[in-house]
Amino acid sequence: MLPLEEKIRNKSAIIGIVGIGYVGLPLAVAFAAAGFRVLGFDIRQKNVDSVNRGQSYIADVSDEDLSSVVTKKLLEATIDQGRLREADAICICVPTPLTTTKDPDLSYVIHESEQISKYLRPGQLVILESTTYPGTTRQVILPKLESSGLRCGTDFYLAYSPERVDPGSKNYNVKNTPKIVGGMDTRATQLAQLLYRQIANKVLPFSCPEVAEMTKDFENVFRSVNIALVNELARLCERMGLSVWEVIDAASTKPFGYMPFYPGPGIGGHCIPLDPYYLAHKARELDFHTRFIELAAEINEHMPYHVVSRIIEALSDRGKSLKGAKILVLGVAYKKDVGDTRESPALKIIQILHEKGAEVSYNDPYISRIHMPAGDLESVELSKEWLTAADCVVIVTDHSCYDLGEVAASAKLVFDTRGATRGLGGDNIVRLGE
Ligand SMILES: NC(=O)c1ccc[n+]([C@@H]2O[C@H](COP(=O)([O-])OP(=O)(O)OC[C@H]3O[C@@H](n4cnc5c(N)ncnc54)[C@H](O)[C@@H]3O)[C@@H](O)[C@H]2O)c1
Repeated sequence: MLPLEEKIRNKSAIIGIVGIGYVGLPLAVAFAAAGFRVLGFDIRQKNVDSVNRGQSYIADVSDEDLSSVVTKKLLEATIDQGRLREADAICICVPTPLTTTKDPDLSYVIHESEQISKYLRPGQLVILESTTYPGTTRQVILPKLESSGLRCGTDFYLAYSPERVDPGSKNYNVKNTPKIVGGMDTRATQLAQLLYRQIANKVLPFSCPEVAEMTKDFENVFRSVNIALVNELARLCERMGLSVWEVIDAASTKPFGYMPFYPGPGIGGHCIPLDPYYLAHKARELDFHTRFIELAAEINEHMPYHVVSRIIEALSDRGKSLKGAKILVLGVAYKKDVGDTRESPALKIIQILHEKGAEVSYNDPYISRIHMPAGDLESVELSKEWLTAADCVVIVTDHSCYDLGEVAASAKLVFDTRGATRGLGGDNIVRLGE
């Protein structure tokens, strides 16, 4: 049997991607497009069937790219975990959510490690890609895999390599985003590096999985903290009668030592709202309180409430109460031009508005229906009728396709949480941070 290096070099290695969602599907397609045979594993039959039909459910993967590798029989999806045995390298891309009390929920990672250990065979390389706290690969996955009786470093290899995908980005993808790897030993690091070099321009090795795990957490904490800082500044600017948007423009003229972050209705997605809690949780185990990180989370989580207070104020300035007011929310995705509502602040804003007695509707060209505690809502048409009927139109996610000039021309009142209407004048526009 050829050693794994050889199989990776001559592309005869079979790659198993476990969890073919936002992270796993682009990765699976990238390996298949590079000429590898890829097996995509998922527990959702719907995802498996869709992949095998060549129909993508992830905006960053086109039907054309997917069906091209499926037709060539380079990518196949399955729910049969027994087929993990066929894979030479296995990348784990399962969810790492939070529990309702905001503690790490590693149940998917644990369950999958147990599955892999059942089918583990000598020579396999296992790489965790899911975001998690430092120590997960060594303390959680390694013991599960070694319960198979095989030894890490001699029989199989284990590494961590965080996914850094930026959904919806036109500039960055699997190929041009540098990948970092940290293996349990030198050989694991080298194998993981060689594997990812087949699909990414730059792959950088680090000393151990913990460094790679901490790096991913740090990258997201960095964003969370800076967003919190600018959200706080936005609220201060409101009190001082300044525009935070103009201040950011001005600060951005400095060519060094500054990087712009923007205020908004809160943070969303599967990373920035969650990862700081993973790190804070791990820190608490060591009697260490990550006060900075938790303060940032607190400030960011308050933003939906702040947005609602500003809407109440803007309505009240026009002699209107929120109770019974018709509010049209534009954009419920967690960021512009994507169809993902996970942890989206829009959902929180809609829920608070509803609880305060407003009649809420929404439009999002990417999301036709949302599940809310009080019942499902369906996206309404973005017509002049809906715009003029609303007492307030709230721009929560400024999708590029929105004609905000048209929105501002028709609406009685616009509350803009993204600074997206800055080029537009009119007494009917109120912005966050001003
Ligand atoms: N979405 C992002 O932008 C992003 C970016 C970087 C890192 N991450 C991290 O990557 C990981 C995956 O996130 P995602 O956004 O792709 O999640 P996702 O929910 O889109 O995809 C995960 C997939 O795993 C499947 N799954 C769950 N348990 C499974 C199992 N035991 N076996 C096989 N499949 C299983 C689910 O059905 C789902 O299709 C998370 O840790 C996340 O934090 C996400």
